[in-house]
Amino acid sequence: MKKLFCCIAVCYLFIATQALAQMKQVEVAPAATPRQPIMIQGPMPIEAEFFAALLDDVHTEHSGNATFYTGTLNGYPVVVAQTGKGLENTAAATAIGITRYRPRIIINQGTSGGHDPKLQVGDIVLGARSVNAANFKTPHRKAGEGSAPLNWLPMDLMASAGSAGEGDSAAKAEKARFYAGDKALLALALSLKDTYTHGKVVTGTIGSGNFWNNELDRIAWLHDNLGTSVEEMETASAAQIAHAYQTPFLGIRILSNNITNQGHYDPQTARACQQFVQTVVTAYIQQLRQTAD
Ligand code: 5AD
Repeated sequence: MKKLFCCIAVCYLFIATQALAQMKQVEVAPAATPRQPIMIQGPMPIEAEFFAALLDDVHTEHSGNATFYTGTLNGYPVVVAQTGKGLENTAAATAIGITRYRPRIIINQGTSGGHDPKLQVGDIVLGARSVNAANFKTPHRKAGEGSAPLNWLPMDLMASAGSAGEGDSAAKAEKARFYAGDKALLALALSLKDTYTHGKVVTGTIGSGNFWNNELDRIAWLHDNLGTSVEEMETASAAQIAHAYQTPFLGIRILSNNITNQGHYDPQTARACQQFVQTVVTAYIQQLRQTAD
């Protein structure tokens, strides 16, 4: 009888480990193989169509609010993902894009608004890190005491706080979560900064949220407290999902506006950003070919 129990237990263990291994395979993007595509994301048509037009043999696919242009650049597979604006559209397009196309890297690029007065419209920020700059928990205030946004506490949605979000574990969640840009991609993009002629290329922090801040004190608070160089609506959300699927990721954002130094909105910047990203992707493909030799 004992032997029978042992046998059944061993069988269960075996089945359970197999099932777990299979679940892992489904969840985790596999290691890069030579022909896995490069994925370039841009939120709006003006931030994606220039790059899509560079591709040969283009096929267009739709999923939800996203459009995927698949083709080749210099003979190498590339997918341009027009994600739609904002955190939700970007997260969905990133998860769908990763599971459908298995990209070896993702670059999220497009326009942004300056938080740093030293940055001019036309300058490019390479995201050494990105952060969701719209996740906050407010301290208590009684009815009639108003709202004080400059006292709000950052909130980390990935910290495992208690179910009600209160108590000891909640303290751990009262900090911002930063996603680091892929080091090799960042170094490659930085090495190409002198090829860019519309401004300077710097490394910095990209702050994302479904917001467009025009209050200079709010912008200064984000710059001082979260270290944001620019704000926009997508990068941190794509970074969070790319991280979950272990896909190397970099945000590249051009300033289309900067109210901290009267930098007026210039829509032409969307194209200049894609042109710089083209330089980065071309160099990346060259690197891949050299290492394959
Ligand atoms: N604040 C927020 N988003 C901005 N964008 C450009 N500038 C800003 C800004 N100052 C980008 C967002 C979004 C679209 C409205 O433009 O990423 O996709």
